[in-house]
Amino acid sequence: MSNSREAELIHLFKGIPFTIRSSPELLKSLDTFDAREDDVLLVSYPKSGTHWLAGVITKLYNTQVTLTSPIEFGDISKLEELNKLSSKRIIPTHLDYNMLPPNFKNKKCKMIYISRNPKDTAVSMYHYYRDNPNLPTIDTWTDFFDLFLKGDVVCGSWFDHFLSWEEHENDKNILFLFYEDMKKDLPKVVREITLFLGLNISDNDIQGICKKSSFSEMKTDTEKENSDPSHTVCALTSNRRLIFRKGAVGDWKNHFTPKQNRRFEEIFNEKMKLSKM
Ligand code: A3P
Repeated sequence: MSNSREAELIHLFKGIPFTIRSSPELLKSLDTFDAREDDVLLVSYPKSGTHWLAGVITKLYNTQVTLTSPIEFGDISKLEELNKLSSKRIIPTHLDYNMLPPNFKNKKCKMIYISRNPKDTAVSMYHYYRDNPNLPTIDTWTDFFDLFLKGDVVCGSWFDHFLSWEEHENDKNILFLFYEDMKKDLPKVVREITLFLGLNISDNDIQGICKKSSFSEMKTDTEKENSDPSHTVCALTSNRRLIFRKGAVGDWKNHFTPKQNRRFEEIFNEKMKLSKM
């Protein structure tokens, strides 16, 4: 972080860094949020493919659904805004499991957690930080790499986030997905999503939805939609071109030095020793 004004872009809530776009009052009030049984949550650590998943899911419904901005984004008026929505709500969030409004858990709302190789997530987040005036300036990849490993980035540690959700991977109302599986065989993952959401969609329609959800299609759509404020999954930039950067698996190899890779693996193995990942 290069100066104190930039440090003011971030505040800590329950030990986790949030941008000032998530007001402390809103974060405090999340505990009282009134979930609806038919809410669907899209959960992710930032840069894991949230927009991609949101793009797919919103195309699956033939009834009206509203894709909201992340529940933790905004000021205290946010909860009222969400309460007023009459259509089914698809709600993204980057919160870790422990910070999730308890009502979503009590009402057993369906939640889809998307995860991505943390090395690619780190690289994607580095570029996002670098080009985003709402986030502290990052001078070099090396600086960002250290911050990421320490969890000193928005939404905190990737490891803590993943582990908090992985503990619940057998909960019937939670579906775990991987970005890499979506890259490998999107129709298969979409079929899994439709089964989980109880939607009946033909193979033909699934093929069509996958075609419309390819990286190139979504990126082109984005260019058309840049000025449309209702496309709000990304809470920290109106320049949605920042979101659709490369869309590749393994870009970390273009950034990590062999030494950084060894260090990452050591920390990964230590932190994830109880994980099935
Ligand atoms: P890169 O920065 O590696 O390109 P999020 O939506 O959680 O912010 O994640 C953004 C990442 O998902 C970006 O990764 C972006 O390019 C990638 N992404 C978005 N849409 C995609 C798609 N249709 N196919 C593949 N990757 C996509």
